[in-house]
Amino acid sequence: MLRPYVLVNVAMTVDGKIDSAARRGATISSATDKRRVDELRASVDAVLVGGKTLLNESPKLTVRNPALRRERLERGLPENPMKVGVVSVANLDLDGDFVRAGPAERLIFTTRRTSPEQIVRLEKAGVQVFVSRGSERVDLGEMLETLHRLGVRRLLVEGGGTILAEFFRLGLVDELSIYLAPRLFGGATAPTLADGPGFLPNQAPRLTLVSVERFDPEGGILLRYLIPSPSTL
Ligand SMILES: NC(=O)c1ccc[n+]([C@@H]2O[C@H](COP(=O)([O-])OP(=O)(O)OC[C@H]3O[C@@H](n4cnc5c(N)ncnc54)[C@H](OP(=O)(O)O)[C@@H]3O)[C@@H](O)[C@H]2O)c1
Repeated sequence: MLRPYVLVNVAMTVDGKIDSAARRGATISSATDKRRVDELRASVDAVLVGGKTLLNESPKLTVRNPALRRERLERGLPENPMKVGVVSVANLDLDGDFVRAGPAERLIFTTRRTSPEQIVRLEKAGVQVFVSRGSERVDLGEMLETLHRLGVRRLLVEGGGTILAEFFRLGLVDELSIYLAPRLFGGATAPTLADGPGFLPNQAPRLTLVSVERFDPEGGILLRYLIPSPSTL
């Protein structure tokens, strides 16, 4: 299967939470880390989020620094990477930042549970909609093949915890960056880096630590891991 190289990036508290239990998109990242994530976004062809993050937060997903956007244009790339959402019912806000902020190509991968009327509304707003053949879920492997066909070679997946767990379960992650903030959110229901049902120990993905960087004065730590593909385990 031809698919893009998949990088996951999250900001996490020391107790593994990527948001508080209130799930309102709490800021975890520091100013230094936000600059790093901006550079990471500027280095990829597409940025992807899961349905809950998309519907509840409508993230911009664009490159903030104008110099980085200019560099992309000079390299013959679009000003911003493609924005991709995966959602079973694509009832997103057409006035939200995911749709409005750009310029950027916007793609939604969804299921037949999204109404034909909503698909027309999205398409009129300039969003490309891909409806999966299956009824309930988007096949993430097929989606990656489609993105590869559309020219995506590096894909950044930014969360949340449910879609990340699915990417890990399917062995579709090549690299993981975690900004570990010196905070502790707690809460059994607060989202983590990999939610869903979890993995049995013998099926849990194994990661290879490649770098550790300390961000001072804020006391954050950047951890970078590679995830060996199943064939190299
Ligand atoms: N700190 C960070 O770096 C960071 C980054 C991003 C998000 N977050 C946080 O993560 C939280 C959201 O995480 P979450 O786990 O609730 O949700 P999520 O991962 O953003 O989205 C999960 C939803 O996406 C849809 N989805 C996922 N895979 C699908 C598939 N294969 N086919 C069709 N639909 C699919 C499903 O929607 P349905 O249930 O409708 O089927 C699923 O419930 C928020 O609190 C957000 O702030 C943190």
